[in-house]
Amino acid sequence: MEFQADKIDSLVPQWLMTARKMILESFSQKIEIETKTSRNDLVTGLDRKIEQFLVRKIQECFPGSQIVSEETRPTINEIEEEGLLWIIDPIDGTMNFVKQKNDFAIMIGIFRGGKGQRGFIYDVMADRLYHGGPDQGVYCNYQKMKSPPDVPLVDGLLGVGGVMLINNKYNLQKIALASHGIRIYGSAGIEIIHVLNGQLIGYLSHLHPWDLAAGKILAETLGLVVKTIDGREVNVLSSIDVLVASKNAQKDIIMMAQSHC
Ligand code: IPD
Ligand code: CA
Ligand code: CA
Ligand code: CA
Repeated sequence: MEFQADKIDSLVPQWLMTARKMILESFSQKIEIETKTSRNDLVTGLDRKIEQFLVRKIQECFPGSQIVSEETRPTINEIEEEGLLWIIDPIDGTMNFVKQKNDFAIMIGIFRGGKGQRGFIYDVMADRLYHGGPDQGVYCNYQKMKSPPDVPLVDGLLGVGGVMLINNKYNLQKIALASHGIRIYGSAGIEIIHVLNGQLIGYLSHLHPWDLAAGKILAETLGLVVKTIDGREVNVLSSIDVLVASKNAQKDIIMMAQSHC
């Protein structure tokens, strides 16, 4: 199936706006909340409702698409590289959605022939849509974004996954101390948005395909590095520790992480 850029660029933002309405309406209703693997890993009725809505729209408008999505279609074997692949995170930052009603995102990454074509990260409460791809650049609410400055680790704020920091994986506490400060937002999408707009010089965390797909496309389009901590290419269909960063910060972080071994 072809990558239909114009159709995708016109339909997906409409779906995201409809999903935003569902979320805003849910704030005055009682929502179902269940635990998944642990008490810190939640899924709500809204995660499922938005995922079902997006999957239905994709199937209606782009029949034959392959879809991977966090809550109901997480299986990543049997993906054919040639087809059109949609990777969906219906609510990224479910814990923030439940506890704070802020700092969560809806994310969609679209790939064809194994290559990222479109990323959409929608910061729902800020009503800011980040979207784009290699053929068109990256936009925030339809304003073209510039690549962020190539700031080294010592001069910037670093976003990290909380568990990774607590466990001091990759010497992360020392890396954090070498930066200007660390931030933990609890949503990979929101963290990657901050890297795109230069508010963070990098983000390091353990991510699943739906946490990374959209952000990888947008970050690479803006010339940021999306690699493993030892500088290898990332397969977006794997769950892996990933660093999204400016080139300079990536060099510094890799050096400090390796000096730990
Ligand atoms: C989670 C968030 C969190 C990250 C976790 C993700 P979810 O996504 O992005 O920031 O640290 O690894 O699983 O489960 O809320 O979609
Ligand atoms: Ca989850
Ligand atoms: Ca997620
Ligand atoms: Ca999610």
